[in-house]
Amino acid sequence: MAKQRIISAESQSPQDDAPRSTLRPRCLGDFVGQKDLIERISITLEAVQQRGEPMEHILLHGPPGLGKTTLAHIIAAEMNTRAFTTSGPALTKAGDLVGTLSRLQPRDVLFIDEIHRLPPAVEEYIYPAMEEFKVDVIVDSGRHAKTISIALAPFTLIGATTRAGLLSGPLRNRFGISHHLRFYTNKELLQILRRAVDQLGLGGVSEAALSAIAGRSRGTPRVTLRLLRRVRDFAQVRAAGRIDEAVVADALALEGVDERGLDHLDRAYLQTLARTYAGGPAGLEAMAATMGDDAGTLEDVVEPYLLQIGFLARTRQGRRLTPAAAEHLQPGRHAGSALPQTALFSSIVTAESDPQPAGLSP
Ligand SMILES: Nc1ncnc2c1ncn2[C@@H]1O[C@H](COP(=O)(O)OP(=O)(O)OP(=O)(O)O)[C@@H](O)[C@H]1O
Ligand SMILES: [Mg+2]
Repeated sequence: MAKQRIISAESQSPQDDAPRSTLRPRCLGDFVGQKDLIERISITLEAVQQRGEPMEHILLHGPPGLGKTTLAHIIAAEMNTRAFTTSGPALTKAGDLVGTLSRLQPRDVLFIDEIHRLPPAVEEYIYPAMEEFKVDVIVDSGRHAKTISIALAPFTLIGATTRAGLLSGPLRNRFGISHHLRFYTNKELLQILRRAVDQLGLGGVSEAALSAIAGRSRGTPRVTLRLLRRVRDFAQVRAAGRIDEAVVADALALEGVDERGLDHLDRAYLQTLARTYAGGPAGLEAMAATMGDDAGTLEDVVEPYLLQIGFLARTRQGRRLTPAAAEHLQPGRHAGSALPQTALFSSIVTAESDPQPAGLSP
């Protein structure tokens, strides 16, 4: 149900992450935001290149859609080497990992997405690979069993995870650079949008229109680019290609996204807390039961953003609505949106039975 939310930071369609998309930044200079990380990487890159060494192993953690995969490809490009991509769950056997590692050439990048899901039996093989560029494999069994050591090309491991807390200590300690990616500011998202607009050849898009998209993007480049694609489609079909602030408001109201980037599910959550529980405190299970939703879904996909923007407080007694959220829910707040009040609020009320507002294509 929550899978197809337009404001979800998770990748939903091939267009979201098309590897050859011109929208994906290709070099460090094109990468917007994350200034401190980019500076750390640039310094280390230059230093290792001068010494002819591989890049340090890097662990990137943080919420989805903030550029972890993009950065891994950029680093390989800057090193003039290749990037191989795999993921924790794909490496089910030690043999999968050994096979992948032995194909690497000096200074290649191995990108392991969702590295927290690497099976423990495979993880053990990673330690000597990272530290000494070798893997020890056991051949034969019983009395004849012996360990042979396979030398690997000096490579760079880039691990990505949305759940750094689930990584084992020994694995985490073997990365030379470990960095938490932050949400982007509206100014940074605006920069990403300007570049995308140029590359898509969309002329005459007003700054106000781009700001309106940035403000609804939940600090996430993947969301901002997806919203831009929806606005572009809407503008082409309904507004003769013109993209201004009103067109953005109309296009995104049709998708059920309000000016803070909240969708029907977020608003249904806030409304439940406001109306049924008089602003709280309410327990997560009670909220889930009232909304007819699953507690885990609410905790993982609804609450994080509401907490981040200060619309929700988690206390020992339960969830509480904040004054900022109460103000956001005031009926007058949505006067500027193209969606009629009644439609907006009925979409909130019916969110349980009909989670997809009209016009939200799967
Ligand atoms: N700093 C940035 N500048 C411009 N575009 C960006 C930036 N970061 C990410 N993007 C764009 O956002 C999209 C998502 O980025 P990416 O796939 O790298 O995220 P991710 O962190 O790997 O997400 P996930 O955790 O879901 O794998 C890509 O289409 C990419 O082009
Ligand atoms: Mg990724």
